[in-house]
Amino acid sequence: MREVAIIGYGMTKFGELWDKSIRDIFVEAALKSIDNAKVDHIDSMFVGSMTPGLFVGQEHIGALMADYLGVAGIPAIRIESACASGGLALRQGFIEVASGMNDIVLVGGVEKMTDGADATYALSTAADQEYEVYNGITFPGLYAMIARAHMHTYGTTRKQLAMVSVKNHKNGALNPNAQFQHEITLDTVINATMVADPLTLMDCSPVSDGGACVILCPLDMAKQYTDTPIKILASGAATDSLAIHQREDIASLKAVRLSGERAFKQAGLKPDDIDIAEVHDCFTIAEISVIEELGFAEKGKGGEFTEKGYTSLEGKIPINTSGGLKSKGHPVGATGVAQVVELVEQLRDTAGKRQVKNAKIGIAQNMGGSGASSVVHILTSNT
Ligand code: COA
Repeated sequence: MREVAIIGYGMTKFGELWDKSIRDIFVEAALKSIDNAKVDHIDSMFVGSMTPGLFVGQEHIGALMADYLGVAGIPAIRIESACASGGLALRQGFIEVASGMNDIVLVGGVEKMTDGADATYALSTAADQEYEVYNGITFPGLYAMIARAHMHTYGTTRKQLAMVSVKNHKNGALNPNAQFQHEITLDTVINATMVADPLTLMDCSPVSDGGACVILCPLDMAKQYTDTPIKILASGAATDSLAIHQREDIASLKAVRLSGERAFKQAGLKPDDIDIAEVHDCFTIAEISVIEELGFAEKGKGGEFTEKGYTSLEGKIPINTSGGLKSKGHPVGATGVAQVVELVEQLRDTAGKRQVKNAKIGIAQNMGGSGASSVVHILTSNT
């Protein structure tokens, strides 16, 4: 396998982008990434998108986006793994470059969720229809059950859940691309409208529009394009049952653990070696559980770890410096690529007010549904 580098990135602002169609959003992010990488062509592209058919009535996204980007003719593949579509698209682009199949590969993610479709229904198609959705459950409800199980088994508190949201809004306030650029308090989270007990509106990621792209090439070509290539050290992926009642333990996310273990093994690293992490905080409980499964906090202690401030911008392992899905927004297909955009900005030392000092190694974890798929990438500026 060849070593692979990210040589450029671009993203749109996340939010309710009323004046832009899904193709406008993708093309804006893609052109920014091409400009940033200074490439004069693309050999192939992968586009992560969860369900554009349900959100905006548009399938066949690979060819459409290649055409509107002005590169029709190249192979263009749409990748779907629910909210992990972007992360999985990056994995496929990584494999394509590593294998020698192509040199300059664009990896993007896009979703346009606010155009009037029933977003709750569209999202629920990523849960188990026969066992879960048919019985009326939605994603906030599924994660509420995971939260209750975690609270019951490990003593995780309501306040600890809320602290994830407060911390991520604090980071998002420093991110010009974030959907919500304001800080919130613990009281705001706890007293917000109840969505699915114990999760209030402020424990939930929002419904968003947005796109993000990166350009990959072999590491030994990267210096032709940039002085600051970011090397992809590892890509780990895993799956679990869609229906949460079929899992060994509702309070755990096994696919996250497996994808993390695979990535750490491939990189030859351990959690202590990581400087920064972007993880899938679609609901506050998800961040707490993910930091346990990746080995940053002991199992059951993710809440306490958060409460002690270890995951803050100044903490021992800053988590979701971008604001995470909660504050930056969660246009589902774009999220996995946007996480990597944040790592690239941090590792290049260009993250502005939210820059973590001396960040050299970062990890991104992107989750599909209630944890039935997970993708982990480890990146470094040490090339
Ligand atoms: N966090 C903070 N504010 C939010 C928000 C969120 N998650 N979602 C909406 N808001 C704000 C809106 O900006 C709006 O503010 P305004 O009145 O000042 O304009 C207000 O709250 C009401 O927004 P609305 O769009 O009516 O909310 P809603 O009730 O339709 O949706 C949720 C709220 C939580 C149900 C929705 O955001 C949701 O489903 N989130 C989860 C998405 C999801 O499941 N993703 C996949 C994860 S696996």
